[in-house]
Amino acid sequence: MAQQQPERRRGGGGGGLALLLLLLLLLLLAAALRPAEALENGLARRPPLGWLHWERFLCQTDCAREPHRCVSEQLFMQMADVMVSEGWRDAGYEYLCIDDCWMAPTRDKQGRLQPDPKRFPSGISKLAAYVHSKGLKLGIYADVGSKTCAGFPGSKGNYKLDADTFASWGVDLLKFDGCNFGTLAQLVKGYKDMSRALNETGRSIVYSCEWPLYQRPLQKPNYTEIKQYCNYWRNYEDVYDSWCSIKDILDWSALHQDDIAEIAGPGGWNDPDMLVIGNFGLSRDQQVTQMALWAIMAAPLLMSNDLRSICPQAKALLQNKEVIAINQDPLGKQGYRILADHKFELWERPLSGGGYAIAVLNRQEMGGPQTITFSTAILGNGLACNPTCWIQQILPTKRELGLHNWASAFKVLVNPTGTALLKTKVPEEKPAAGTRRPPEH
Ligand SMILES: *[C@@H]1O[C@H](CO)[C@@H](O)[C@H](O)[C@H]1NC(C)=O
Ligand SMILES: *[C@@H]1O[C@H](CO)[C@@H](O)[C@H](O)[C@H]1NC(C)=O
Repeated sequence: MAQQQPERRRGGGGGGLALLLLLLLLLLLAAALRPAEALENGLARRPPLGWLHWERFLCQTDCAREPHRCVSEQLFMQMADVMVSEGWRDAGYEYLCIDDCWMAPTRDKQGRLQPDPKRFPSGISKLAAYVHSKGLKLGIYADVGSKTCAGFPGSKGNYKLDADTFASWGVDLLKFDGCNFGTLAQLVKGYKDMSRALNETGRSIVYSCEWPLYQRPLQKPNYTEIKQYCNYWRNYEDVYDSWCSIKDILDWSALHQDDIAEIAGPGGWNDPDMLVIGNFGLSRDQQVTQMALWAIMAAPLLMSNDLRSICPQAKALLQNKEVIAINQDPLGKQGYRILADHKFELWERPLSGGGYAIAVLNRQEMGGPQTITFSTAILGNGLACNPTCWIQQILPTKRELGLHNWASAFKVLVNPTGTALLKTKVPEEKPAAGTRRPPEH
């Protein structure tokens, strides 16, 4: 059994007053010397929620043949309408985001990016105004390099101009891709320059980066630095509409959790890519797994699906208030895997108020539902249920699992490739002093 133990909180031992003061002084000094921790644009204090066209609609530019599915202002206006009428906005999904393939093949006479005139005849500022009139925000896409991934004009050499253009249109979020970036130094400088250029526009624009994704093959990303420039960032490959892809992203995230989980927090998040729930490739149980684990990972929840025709089950899952609340937990700590073998995985995420979100994932791809039993002592490094906790199941269905203590075990039934999402809660009444036992190891 592979056990992965990320950094844990440890209770402080008592020390002399002088030692304590010295420590405090050192801490203050360190804090004073340390540069700003997150991008200071006041945005993305919680993981952003919204919709992004890429995984479902890709680069369909042929509106004559595919009027209903091409990347056009009509698609985004319809999606905005549905986001309001079908409760998505009220559930928290706020950013309606355009990905690659919105541009005309060349810049305009003044050198500015321009939308494809056939597919976006009203222009982006009109679209932004429409989206804003619905109480939503508009996201757009550009690329740090010479060309976007689909071959449209890149922003290299035009960061200031492009940032100013987006701001003048009323754009609220920029997804900045990294195709055709040139050298590593140009990649890093480009992401920083665009961050500064966005700031200088004076408009609040969420900044989504793919900097570590393109940097990692060449050099280990410095997440402290990335968080100073970006509101969220992609680390790994594009998501596909398949269980294979979801598994792969989860495996990568668990393998690199010591690198990436600690840095996440208000203002800066790891982005494991879009939610593909409501499409074709995931079973009902696999959709539950994606939703549960994206909540555990404090991931931006950017759906890529067709909200005009989504099935009620997928809609209920994506709009589940309690799962969204876990994703949006104000403590802003990213969860991590605490246990894995060939049959199941256990993930946890510390929540505000002392509780934990727990995901029990059944990795077996044969057989039927499995009853998985484990000790509460493993949760929260022994602290989650010490001395007692309430446990509630949230997905796939809501169920009370009752009051537990540090020495109890509990069972959940999980379908193959499915996940049980649970939540622990510290009981209201304060335990009497002296009843706390140290966790067993
Ligand atoms: C620009 O950055 C400064 C601090 O670095 C911050 O106070 C300000 O709010 C930022 N402005 C925008 C529009 O992001
Ligand atoms: C990472 O970046 C931070 C902030 O710029 C810097 O202080 C730190 O030295 C860097 N770490 C490494 C290993 O380069």
